[in-house]
Order: sequence, then C-alpha cells, then structure tokens
Amino acid sequence: MQTSAMAQLKNCSDWPDEALVRDAVTHLTPYQPGMPVSEVKRKYGLTEVIKLASNENALGPSPVALRALAEAAGQLHMYPDGSSYDLRHGLAKLLGVHMDQVIVGNGSDELIKLIAEVFLNPGDEVISWQPGFTQYGWAAHIMGANHFSLPMRDFQYGLADLQQVLSPATRLVCLASPNNPTGTILTRSQLEQLLEMLPAQALLILDEAYGEFVDRPDYPDGLDYVKAGHRILLLRTFSKVYGLAGLRIGYGIGSPAAIDYLQRVRNPFNANSLAQAAALAALSDKEHAQASRIAARQGRTYLTGGLTEMGVKVVPGEANFLLVDTGYPAPEVFEGLLRQGIIVRPCQGFGLPTYLRISVGTPGQNEMLLEALAQVLADCRRKYDYSGKE
Ligand SMILES: Cc1ncc(COP(=O)(O)O)c(C=O)c1O
Repeated sequence: MQTSAMAQLKNCSDWPDEALVRDAVTHLTPYQPGMPVSEVKRKYGLTEVIKLASNENALGPSPVALRALAEAAGQLHMYPDGSSYDLRHGLAKLLGVHMDQVIVGNGSDELIKLIAEVFLNPGDEVISWQPGFTQYGWAAHIMGANHFSLPMRDFQYGLADLQQVLSPATRLVCLASPNNPTGTILTRSQLEQLLEMLPAQALLILDEAYGEFVDRPDYPDGLDYVKAGHRILLLRTFSKVYGLAGLRIGYGIGSPAAIDYLQRVRNPFNANSLAQAAALAALSDKEHAQASRIAARQGRTYLTGGLTEMGVKVVPGEANFLLVDTGYPAPEVFEGLLRQGIIVRPCQGFGLPTYLRISVGTPGQNEMLLEALAQVLADCRRKYDYSGKE
C-alpha cells in the first residue's frame, strides 16, 4: 500500500510531461521581478536597503488613499464590487468618458493579458519595440501569436521600421510612452503618423503607465485620441504617480465595444475592495499626485547632473526613472550597489549589457545612490581600465 502511494507520488511529481502542455506555454519564461528588499537584507546581512529598481513612487502612497483603505478594511469579509462601479464612475467623470469605456484591472499588467485573450488567435501578429516593456510579447506568446520586436533607434520610436512589418496578420501594436526602460516618448506627430498607418484590423495599445510624469508640450494625451474614435486602447495605472503598486490596480480606456469584450474575460473579482477604495480616494488627492510629479522631475534633474559629472551617460527620459550607461558590465555594477544596500535594475536582459535603470528615489536615496555608484565605478575603473581588460 505504502509502496504504491510512493509510486503515485513519484508519478505526480513527474507530471505533466511537456507533451501535455500547450506549445505556447512550454516556450514561456516567467517574468523576473526586481529583487525584494527582504531578500537583499538576508543575502548581504544588511539592515538598511533601498530599492530603486521598480519605478515605484518615492513619496509613498497618498495619505488620503491610506485613510480610505483603512475604512474599507472593516468590510474585508465581503467580496468586492465585481464591476468596480464606483472607481469606474470616478474615473469616467474625471476623464470625460462614459463608464462603459473604462475597465479596471489587477494592475495594468492584467489588462495586457486580457487584451491578448480577447484579440489574439494563434498566428496573429503583435508588434512592439525593444528595449521595451516585456509583457506585450509575453501575452502574445501565451496566445500562440507571433511577436515582432522592432529596434528603438537611439532609444527613440522609429515608425519607418513599423511600416515595413505591418501586415494583414497584425492585430496589436503595443508601445509604452514614456517607454520602459528608456523613458522616451512617442510625440504627438509620431502618434498621428502611427494611427494613419495602422491597418483596419489592428489596435494600438498605448501604455501611459508613466504619462503623468511627462512635461513636454509635444507629448500627446492618448485620451484625446480615444475620444476622437481612433482604434486605441489606453492603459494607465495607480502604481506610479498614485503610489499604489502594492495594491495592484490599473485601468484601461477604449471604445465601449472593446471594453465589453475585455470585461467578458476578466476574473469576477479581479480588483480587490481595498484597491478599489484606495484608488478612488487617490484620484481626489491632487496634491499628492502633483508632489509626486515634482519629486520625479527634481530627482531626475539631480540624478542626471550627478551621473553626468561622474562620466555616466544618461538617456534623456520623461518618467520617474533613468536609463544610464556606466560603460561597465551591468551585472557587476548592480552587484556592487547591492552590497551597499541599493537595488537597481541591470539591463542586460533588455539587450543593454552596460546599462542600468535607476528609479528616482527620495532626495536622500538619490544622494546615497550617487555616492555608492561613484565607489562601485571607481572599483570597476581599477579592475578594467588600469590592470588591462578582463
Ligand atoms: C510600461 C509599463 N506598463 C505597465 C506596467 C505595469 O503596471 P501595473 O503595476 O499597473 O501592472 C509597468 C510596470 O512597471 C510598466 O513599466
């Protein structure tokens, strides 16, 4: 009896054979998030660690959102409102669209997957840019669609490249503006050019996760183009300027018909009750959102100055992070910073072997980053520049 139970257990642990898993899934690699603070503390025996790796809001969440969250906590025994009515209503009013044009997701990440589930059949084509946000390609692959990555040119979007790959099989063109990890934007004239070349069977996914941080006058508001009836699905999030990344809540805006299809494939209670309450309250806290914008802009300027002074090349960007080229192997610089208790994002995975993505922190954190990086780069110089290349 015991032997057969053991045999069964072995069978279970071997199960499933790859042949039983959908082809699309066997080729997937899971998303690699930045290292959590607790892990770095454990690994390096540190008590203080700062994370500048995931483009979170350095000011933290809005106090108004926190109060709403505390109030909502008393109702945690109840299921959330599955339709996120109040939040969708609040968003629609603020944005000047109909509530039927708004969907709420468990982070905008979830919405990317829902879009893929609604629009992609095996063999359909999805186009995005590299280096760029990896979730568009991941969602395409889950559905067995083909994903094409166009190269950014000097870290800018290139539409000539797009024109060459658009085909009758193109279903989605996905881009983030500002882009992650470059921080660069799609300008108004580029957006209009793109919409003109978009084939009738294709939808533009315009991801404005960092849109609130942009000051440039040539930055288009995607909402204007949704309202004008273009084939755009806009993605926005409460994770960045609103400082609610831990609650996982984002939203999409599009035509009522497109949003209706997305509603059909989401989980019944995809946005939890605390997230809905906090997000709605955060919308009303204009002061916190404005302070977050100012902090990002000032931090960007401060970091750009300090980094440039130490010989690090900074890609001019518009978001709450910077893409920088230290000239030395990113994993090594990353590790050197980790030892000093600072987590950044090494960018070799984006095809940028000497680049780091650094989120703007508080003024104190930014200062610590510059000091620590100066030390790490001094070590790199000693190792690579004086004793001959490794
Ligand atoms: C471009 C871009 N889009 C979407 C997201 C996901 O945001 P959310 O936290 O709403 O899932 C991120 C997160 O970093 C991002 O960089």
